[in-house]
Amino acid sequence: MKLAARAGRIVPSPTLSITATAKAMAAQGLDVIDFASGEPDFDTPDLVKDAAHTAIKNGFTKYTPASGIDELKLAVVTKLETEQGLRYDKAQILISCGAKHTLYNIAEALFEHGDEVIIPSPFWVSYPDQILLNDATPVLLDTHEAEGYVVRRRDLEAKITPRTKAIIINSPCNPTGATYTRECLQEIADIAERHDLVIISDEIYEKIIYDGIRHISIATLGPDIAARTVIVNGVSKAYAMTGWRIGYAAGPKALIAAMANIQSQSTSNPTSISQKAAVVALRDGDAFTQHMVKEFDRRRRYMVGRLNAMPGVSCPMPTGAFYAFPNVSGLFNRAHAGGKIQTAADLAGYLLQDAKVAVVPGEPFGSASHIRLSYATSMETIARGWERMETALTKLD
Ligand SMILES: Cc1ncc(COP(=O)(O)O)c(C=O)c1O
Repeated sequence: MKLAARAGRIVPSPTLSITATAKAMAAQGLDVIDFASGEPDFDTPDLVKDAAHTAIKNGFTKYTPASGIDELKLAVVTKLETEQGLRYDKAQILISCGAKHTLYNIAEALFEHGDEVIIPSPFWVSYPDQILLNDATPVLLDTHEAEGYVVRRRDLEAKITPRTKAIIINSPCNPTGATYTRECLQEIADIAERHDLVIISDEIYEKIIYDGIRHISIATLGPDIAARTVIVNGVSKAYAMTGWRIGYAAGPKALIAAMANIQSQSTSNPTSISQKAAVVALRDGDAFTQHMVKEFDRRRRYMVGRLNAMPGVSCPMPTGAFYAFPNVSGLFNRAHAGGKIQTAADLAGYLLQDAKVAVVPGEPFGSASHIRLSYATSMETIARGWERMETALTKLD
C-alpha cells in the first residue's frame, strides 16, 4: 500500500512514546519511575466529576453543535474577560478535543505549501509536525538558556521572509518553564504587526506559574495585536483533566469559522459530557488549581535544587509549567558499562535502563544538551527517582 507522503514526514509524539515505554516496562513488573509524562498527578476535582455524572444522568450524551456548546463558549468568554480583560463574542470561540486538536485545526485552517511558521526553540514537540502535516515549513528560532529563553528582536527579524505566515509562542513554555515578559511580548507584537504575521499563543500552562509572576497574554497588548492573535488554551493542565480532551481557541471570527468547518468534517463535537464538566472547571475550579500549583512549587524547588547539586548538571529555575529542563552536556563523554553518553538521548536511555527512571531527551524539543523531567508527580516519587538517578550518574566514568 502506498501511503500519503505527509504520513512519512512526521514521527510519533516522543513524549507519548516514552511514557508508553515506561508504562510497558511497569506492566512487565519493573518498578519504573516516570518523570516523562506531561500531566498532573492530581486527580480531576470532584466538582468537575460531579458535573460529568450529572450530564450522564440527564442524558446529555448525544451530539452537540460541532463547534461546542454555547454554555462552554460563554464560560470561556467570561474567563477571558474577567481574568484577562479580553472581550470576545461566542462566534470567536471554538471548543475542540484538547488544545492539541485546537492547534491542529489552526494549522489546517491557516497553513499551506510555501508558508513558513516561526517556532522559538526549545519548543513543544507537536508544533513542527503539525505544520509539516499541513505542507508548510517550520522555521526554528533559537533562544538561549543564559537569556532565560526570551525571543530577541534581532533574531526574530532575521528569520522573517516574505513567506512567513505566523509565529507560535508558548508562555509558560513546555519544556523550558520560561515565561515571557511584557517587554518580550511587546517586541514580538511589534514585529508581527510590521510583517503582517498571525500569532498563535499557546497559553495552556497559563495558571501554572510561580514566584508571583502573572501570566500575560500577548492579545492583551492592544486591539491590533488581539486582531491577529489566536489564543489556545484548555482544561487539561490547570484542572488535571488531560483525559477529558477539551481545548479551546479564541481569535478572529474568520479563522474560528474556518476551523469550525474543518472540525465539523473531521471529529465533530468534543465529548458532550466533557464539555459540561469543563464549564464547571472554568467557573469553579480555581481553588483546586491554586492548591495544586502550591504543591508543584514545592516540588519545583526540590527537584531543581537536586539537579543543580549534581556535578555536570545545571538547571535554571523554571517560572511556569511543571518541567525542569536541565543542561546535561557536562555529563557528555562519560562512560558506563554499555557505552558512552554523547547526547541527551544517550543519557535518557541510560537512565531508563540503569535507574529505571524515564525522562525525555531534549532532542525532540530542539536541544541535544537538555533533558526534560516533569515534577507533576509526588514528592515521594521525586525523592526516590533522584536517589536512583544519583546512583546511576555517580557510576559514570
Ligand atoms: C505546550 C502544550 N500545548 C498544548 C498541549 C496539549 O494539551 P491538551 O492535552 O489539551 O491537548 C500540551 C500538552 O502536553 C502542551 O504541553
